[in-house]
Amino acid sequence: MEGLRGRDLLSLGDLQPSELLYLLEFATQMKVGAIAPKCAKVLGLLFQKASTRTRVSFSVAMYQLGGQIIDLHPQSTQVGRGEPLADTARVLDRYLDALAVRTFAQADLTTIADHARIPVINALTDLEHPCQILADLLTLQESFGGLSGLTLTYIGDGNNVAHSLLLGCALVGVNIRIAAPPGFLPLAAIVEQAQAIAATKSEVTITSDPVVAAQGAHALYTDVWASMGQESEAADRLPLFQPYQINDHILQQADSQAIVLHCLPAHREEEITAAVLEGPQSRVWEQAENRLHAQKALLASILT
Ligand code: CP
Ligand code: NVA
Repeated sequence: MEGLRGRDLLSLGDLQPSELLYLLEFATQMKVGAIAPKCAKVLGLLFQKASTRTRVSFSVAMYQLGGQIIDLHPQSTQVGRGEPLADTARVLDRYLDALAVRTFAQADLTTIADHARIPVINALTDLEHPCQILADLLTLQESFGGLSGLTLTYIGDGNNVAHSLLLGCALVGVNIRIAAPPGFLPLAAIVEQAQAIAATKSEVTITSDPVVAAQGAHALYTDVWASMGQESEAADRLPLFQPYQINDHILQQADSQAIVLHCLPAHREEEITAAVLEGPQSRVWEQAENRLHAQKALLASILT
């Protein structure tokens, strides 16, 4: 798709509905081997937080496209010694074709994007995780043969994953329900943005009642209760989040064909029971695999 070439992906809200649907179709075509685009470019990975799936799936995606990656660990670059991000961005864009960034503040990602002339991809910030949601929607589409009329219920912390799910589901017309404890709801500005995108296409529901939110849902989704950078809050959050665990009782409220999703890594017996995570309705391993296919489609679209 011409319109995606050279673009940043800082927020899922940067995409038009047609662009997101195109990426899902492109990913599907690549996954089944119908097409195998080539792209001999170099992607930099600038990750200031830990990562298994995102780091490896971006790396393999570039190798499979015929390109390569350079892993820019903060501790082995001048970033870890405080070189300004604006300077780093203006240097890296003279070597690299694109940069995937995992960091804390969305403002740091924006600073990099503002100073780099190459495409910059959000590989997770405290605010959003758009690449994850490309894979999630691909998994949903594969499981149900389409996205029309589906309802996805996310139960847990109103965090980066919840924010990108709100925007992504709204873009493709999937009903999205978020159930989070009071005080941990998604940001109002993102909810309003999702409502504006969804308009009359689909519903956006924010609640603190996980049982009601789960009723009739086609997908139940959760994530850790304390994200990277919030480790010191983890113990205090446990009792507040206990009613928001995805377990057999919550799963029974959902549609009988419902699938269970988790971006991983999972904390068994916290946000999800081992029985549900490993149970027949879980699609978490397919979901993790789809990170590769979805990001390959994204990279091929912005780099060629
Ligand atoms: N889901 C996800 O982004 O995993 P990693 O933190 O391992 O990249
Ligand atoms: N919300 C989690 C997602 C990890 C993939 C975090 O930010 O740590």
